[in-house]
Amino acid sequence: MRSGGGLILGIESSCDETAAAVVRAGGEVLANVVASQMALHAKYGGVVPELASREHLRNIVPVVRAAMAEAGVGFGDLDAIAVTEGPGLAGALLVGITYAKALALGVGKPLIAVNHLEGHIHAVLMGEAGNREQGTGNREQETERSVGPMLALVVSGGHTHLYLAEFDEEERRTTEILTLNNTQGQNDERKMGAPASRPSGAWTGHPDLWRYRNVGRTVDDAAGEAFDKVAKLLGLGYPGGPWMDALAKSGNPRTVEFRFQQIKARKPTSQNRDVGHPSFDFSFSGIKTAVLRYIQAHGMGAGVEARRRALTEALKANPALRPAEALREMPDVFDAQTLDLIASFQYAVVGNLMRQTFAAAEALGARGIVVSGGVSANSELRRRFAEEAARRGLRVEFPTMAMSTDNAAMIAAAAWGKFCAGEFAREGLVAEPGLRLGSSY
Ligand code: KG4
Ligand code: ZN
Repeated sequence: MRSGGGLILGIESSCDETAAAVVRAGGEVLANVVASQMALHAKYGGVVPELASREHLRNIVPVVRAAMAEAGVGFGDLDAIAVTEGPGLAGALLVGITYAKALALGVGKPLIAVNHLEGHIHAVLMGEAGNREQGTGNREQETERSVGPMLALVVSGGHTHLYLAEFDEEERRTTEILTLNNTQGQNDERKMGAPASRPSGAWTGHPDLWRYRNVGRTVDDAAGEAFDKVAKLLGLGYPGGPWMDALAKSGNPRTVEFRFQQIKARKPTSQNRDVGHPSFDFSFSGIKTAVLRYIQAHGMGAGVEARRRALTEALKANPALRPAEALREMPDVFDAQTLDLIASFQYAVVGNLMRQTFAAAEALGARGIVVSGGVSANSELRRRFAEEAARRGLRVEFPTMAMSTDNAAMIAAAAWGKFCAGEFAREGLVAEPGLRLGSSY
């Protein structure tokens, strides 16, 4: 196989996962390799940036090699290399970017810079792109998607954002022309490479091109951060989300009533023309403090310390210990009061995410909802979003479990539209730790 099949190698290193994937035409995943540093950071109860960069350095070459081998392709077969530009940890991003730049130059392939948040959204959208490429796409669904905006909730350890994502028909046509021009050698010289020929073979569909408008964001902690911090307050393992998810199933969510403050609408500015709309912003630091107060007020401190010690020992003996297993094998460690508190916390956070998301979807006329990012793996979130969407006659979609948390397949998928549009990275590409996606509300 030589290049022209729409093959993109994606590289992701924005936080604590070193990942590489090979994806064909934005939808068909040939390989998706993730080296997680979770066990390393677990000891510190959070990601340590210096350690993360060092681990990325150690892992990046073997991870890329493993992805290429799993996909059964060589560098010559690729059409482009895509890398996460930001947002994320500066040092961590730098490892992926530097490696991807050197590789792109070394093997003579174009480089595409991808926003990590757009990657998360494409973790959901790529399923449909794949279906379309393989000719199994549902035409009705495709039409439905292309005529109205989607509301995307990106909810992870570092982010809680709402985007209005519009599928751009007009731009799609322009892109076709651009693609042709670019492949005729009219590229900007300052860009990192350009395809020698128009992608052919498997590439028969249209690239997915989306425009984004940021319509909501957290004003303090991200939702995943709240899960992780509350889990830490309760002496649970890291990352906290999966622990809270598993343990919440055994608690009563009606025990503690957590309230979220109504966040004031943002003041209109010269860039912000949409005046008079309600706020779709989030805040999760208050609920974390409320949990801390509850623990103190109910004398749960000693129990938390005992649990922390017991779980640290158990995880030392078996680092792969799953939360459900721990609950089964160490029932004494998880008292009913703690399980009820966990269930109540999760119920409140999911409820808040739902309220803001569905309110925004309704106010902004979204046709459907896409939920992605690490917290979208939460089982209660999936169930309640699906129930509410069904009640309202809206579509709601989630990534597969493997695509919920950080991975590089979503980066390669998000790069596909850019590749077809000839949007290649500048030679001066640098890490952008605070990179934003789309225009602001
Ligand atoms: O997307 P991701 O892998 O990395 C970031 O970009 O942040 O998300 C990681 C976050 C962590 O905060 C983790 O606790 C949370 O996702 N998470 C969950 C679940 N699985 C992972 N939160 C709630 N329930 C889960 N099942
Ligand atoms: Zn992420």
